[in-house]
Amino acid sequence: MFNSRSVCLMLFGAVIFAVSGIAEAAQTGHFGYGQQATPDQIAGWDIDVRGDDGAGLPPGRGTIERGAEVFADQCAACHGTFGEGAGRFPKLVGGAGTLRNDRPELTVGSYWPFAPTLWDYINRAMPMATPHTLSADDVYALTAYILNLNDLVPNEFVADRDSLPKVRMPNRGNFIWTDPRPDTAAKACMNACADPADVKITSSAEGLDLTPHTSGPLDTMQPK
Ligand code: HEC
Repeated sequence: MFNSRSVCLMLFGAVIFAVSGIAEAAQTGHFGYGQQATPDQIAGWDIDVRGDDGAGLPPGRGTIERGAEVFADQCAACHGTFGEGAGRFPKLVGGAGTLRNDRPELTVGSYWPFAPTLWDYINRAMPMATPHTLSADDVYALTAYILNLNDLVPNEFVADRDSLPKVRMPNRGNFIWTDPRPDTAAKACMNACADPADVKITSSAEGLDLTPHTSGPLDTMQPK
């Protein structure tokens, strides 16, 4: 199957690979593979925007007028010219006052708690077929347009990193940010802790065959 020439080439390849591996290891620390991410690469991934205060929003700005143009061009086919939704694609507008109904209408306007999250979502995920193709300015413009369609900002509103966190979304107060249940609060016990002898184990996964048995050969590793 292998003649001596191909074996020789393979060996040569293996030596080159090993030597380059050593050189790389010396460069990139103790794991010896991969490379240090550059600040530009990190910036490309580090795009998250925090909802309540908009931390992470980039420089840039966008008007409602510009947003209407971009929306007509890139979004309306699915979301309708005025955000009313085309076919089964989601509505981005309306639904105010329906959240307690049997069939609540969850939209950006009726449901979402934070305006900066709208910027973040569009920036990450839309247009659906070609995400990450919009400029920061156009994402601001689209955000302004959708907020305006929901009557949440006036016609002269300009979206930017300062104005978006100030927009008060109607459903904001109805989200619960902390878990108030006392039994779920994780508090480290520093003194007067329970005596381990008093802790009663009331059930165990042992014997329930929840996981395969690992001690025997492969054909016995199935749950019984
Ligand atoms: C090809 C169809 C399509 C296009 C074009 C499109 N979207 Fe979407 N959009 C969707 C679908 C489908 C969802 C739902 C995705 C999901 O829930 O996972 C969605 C969800 C959204 C949502 C979240 C809605 C919600 O309440 O959860 C927003 C906001 C949005 N799109 C904005 C835009 C904007 C702005 C554009 C134009 C830049 C755009 N979309 C273009 C199909 C599309």
